[in-house]
Amino acid sequence: MSQPVAKVSLTGIKPTGEPHLGNLIGAIRPALQLAEQYDSVYFIADYHALTSVRDPKLLRHYSRSVAATWVAAGLDPNRTIFYVQSDVPEIFELTWALSCVTGKGLMNRAHAYKAARDRNVEAGEEPDAGVNMGLYNYPILMAVDILIMESDVVPVGKDQVQHVEYAADIAGSFNHLYGESYRLKVPQAIIPDAGTGHTLPGLDGRKMSKSYDNTIPLFLPENQLKKLVRRIPTDSTPVEAPKDPDGSAVFQILEQFAPPSAAAVVADTRKRLEAGGMGWGELKNVLFDVLNTELAPLRERYDELMQPGSDLDAYLAEGAVKARERAGRVLGSVREAIGIGR
Ligand code: ADP
Ligand code: TRP
Repeated sequence: MSQPVAKVSLTGIKPTGEPHLGNLIGAIRPALQLAEQYDSVYFIADYHALTSVRDPKLLRHYSRSVAATWVAAGLDPNRTIFYVQSDVPEIFELTWALSCVTGKGLMNRAHAYKAARDRNVEAGEEPDAGVNMGLYNYPILMAVDILIMESDVVPVGKDQVQHVEYAADIAGSFNHLYGESYRLKVPQAIIPDAGTGHTLPGLDGRKMSKSYDNTIPLFLPENQLKKLVRRIPTDSTPVEAPKDPDGSAVFQILEQFAPPSAAAVVADTRKRLEAGGMGWGELKNVLFDVLNTELAPLRERYDELMQPGSDLDAYLAEGAVKARERAGRVLGSVREAIGIGR
């Protein structure tokens, strides 16, 4: 009996900085859970990062660091097709082909481009000042990432949903023109954290984000991790006073991060804060212990993978072969349908 074919879940991860706790909770863990039910395809979108990272050493470092993070966090390269975007040249060939069926008006309406224009106009500048064609064409490259792997679902944060809709639109335009010969699969966005809606707060209580410089990077040495946890702001409520755990960034990080094995610690901490009898200093110690217990083995694996010539290189090389095989099939069908090649 033939096995039912699993649906494909694909996502791209932009290597623009050191991965932090927010990325683990909001993106990595949910994607690893999806990999249990889907045929998963996850990749490092290094060419997408090029629109903002202009230091070649740094771009290479971030690409490796983000890849190592996913593997250290539990991605199984035998079950997930895991690769670096730039290792799959078929993507760039299809990007041109699909650019030719994509309306310029669609790109004009893309959120990131429109936001850049609005900022310029507000500042009294030329509307397109500082906008490069990479930023403008970004959604087409992303559409190709998705379409070339025949993706069914694309887990992304809210800000990326429009891009997935663009991929569906572009597939629609292609299918309208060439659908009698070949049809691209039309993808759908899913927001894995929609159920919880959680956003992890950072060191200053705002959303943890590289752009706010308020992150807890995942793989800090122990002593630095401790220092950062100490820096999370708290008020001056005395130790004995009852406290609202949900109003505290320290407790929120603890609650959202804690693995099931630490559920009892979280519940007990909540009780003690509410009753009065736990100070912020002690709460920070609890958070540090939970973080460190969970992250220490990941950190060790991450450090190994970051070494030149580690397993990571083999994983990514194998991933590239598998990805190119899939991409080559789709690209071949597209070339045939549009009249390119003999
Ligand atoms: P940053 O805001 O640090 O630049 P990115 O935009 O690169 O982070 O986010 C990559 C992924 O991590 C996205 O899927 C995003 O939803 C998730 N993510 C980032 N920060 C958080 C956070 N504070 N809480 C939950 N998820 C987050
Ligand atoms: N644009 C996405 C981001 O900024 C990264 C990305 C590139 C992506 N290609 C993708 C996400 C394809 C999902 C599917 O986070």
